[in-house]
Amino acid sequence: MSADPRTTPAAYDAVDLIRAKRDGGALPADAIAWLVDAYTHGRVADEQMSAFLMAVCWRGLTADELDHWTAAMVASGERADLGGLPRPTVDKHSTGGVGDKVSLVLTPLVAACGAAVPQAAGRGLGHTGGTLDKMEAIPGWRADLDTGRMREILTDVGGVICAAGPRLAPADRRLYALRDVTATVESIPLIASSIMSKKIAEGTSSLVLDVKVGTGAFMTSMDDAHELARTMVRLGDRAGVRTQALLTAMDTPLGRTAGNGPEVAEAVATLRGAGPADLVEITVALARVMLDLAGLGPVAPDPAELLASGAAFKVWRAMVAAQGGDPDAALPVPAFTRVVPAPASGYLSRLEARAVGVAAWRLGAGRARKEDPVSAAAGLRWFAGVGERVRAGEPLIELYSDDESTFPRAIEALAGAVAVTAEPPAFAPLVLAHIR
Ligand code: URA
Repeated sequence: MSADPRTTPAAYDAVDLIRAKRDGGALPADAIAWLVDAYTHGRVADEQMSAFLMAVCWRGLTADELDHWTAAMVASGERADLGGLPRPTVDKHSTGGVGDKVSLVLTPLVAACGAAVPQAAGRGLGHTGGTLDKMEAIPGWRADLDTGRMREILTDVGGVICAAGPRLAPADRRLYALRDVTATVESIPLIASSIMSKKIAEGTSSLVLDVKVGTGAFMTSMDDAHELARTMVRLGDRAGVRTQALLTAMDTPLGRTAGNGPEVAEAVATLRGAGPADLVEITVALARVMLDLAGLGPVAPDPAELLASGAAFKVWRAMVAAQGGDPDAALPVPAFTRVVPAPASGYLSRLEARAVGVAAWRLGAGRARKEDPVSAAAGLRWFAGVGERVRAGEPLIELYSDDESTFPRAIEALAGAVAVTAEPPAFAPLVLAHIR
């Protein structure tokens, strides 16, 4: 039970802490613990926390303050106990991109290689998709699991994708909703602590971060992506979670699809050994880092081989069935389709990630507010990847929707997103850096 705010004397005054941060001061550990706890329990008002968060956006947090802030967010709820499982635990978190269905392939792949992967995932907001929305396109599949059932599936199958329970880092849920409406999302310490508090509370022993950088990502500059990655790796290590990060390119959407059902279909094709090269490359690179972090590097089978052999697909089927899904069920089919033709003949040299994400969102695949429903069938598929030849007038992008009226605005979002050139574009690497 939380303390009664009318009778419990405050250890600190929120206004003093806001003023101290506004003026560039550093707060002691107990002041930060008090502030996060008091806000979580309603003793510090939204307007006071909003002012504090804005002061953090301007002034930042010292490394010590950030450790205490993150620890206070973890302490606001439960820390799941995944100790004693027969396999080492390792998870992955992506900072979010367009067409990013990596978790769907990576979780069963790393489980097939011998680790336990407890993937507590989220829903999409805005132009980036969410792993749970994708999985929910599978008929019967349920996201909610308690820790007991999660442990059972991790023991029997090795991989779980589920909703982060309401008891994991509840302070983050309140803070994130407030940041969303006060223009205080874009702060590296606030993003790092938000992501890492949930991952630390989830109970994994090790973690790889896929920090996306490019026009379709949160971080559009390499410098910011490096700083975010270094900050999160440090927070993980300080909290006893072995953490490394890959910086990966997100100027172009990943694979050939965006949207919930279309991405599940592409993930399944990849698990059957017929995936697009970019998705396979990033998934295998992340799998290798995860196996190293889990201590399985020298003994685990090669993830590229297990993906090609169908071993990861077997684990996928078991994972889906363990959460009520039917791995053989047909995925939802859109009521309407439209085709956008290639504007010229030559090489596809640009397919801009953010524009594709916005188009998918406008077709119904994403939500504008947390409570909005999403369409399982809506989305896009493109027939050529960047660097491949296209011919003027032939289909380049196919759009899917349950509502015909969504097509004009989705097509409008794609204006300027595509470029076709006479020469192939310069080679662009996908994995940009490894932070450890
Ligand atoms: N994802 C999160 O979980 N938190 C942030 O602050 C940003 C992205």
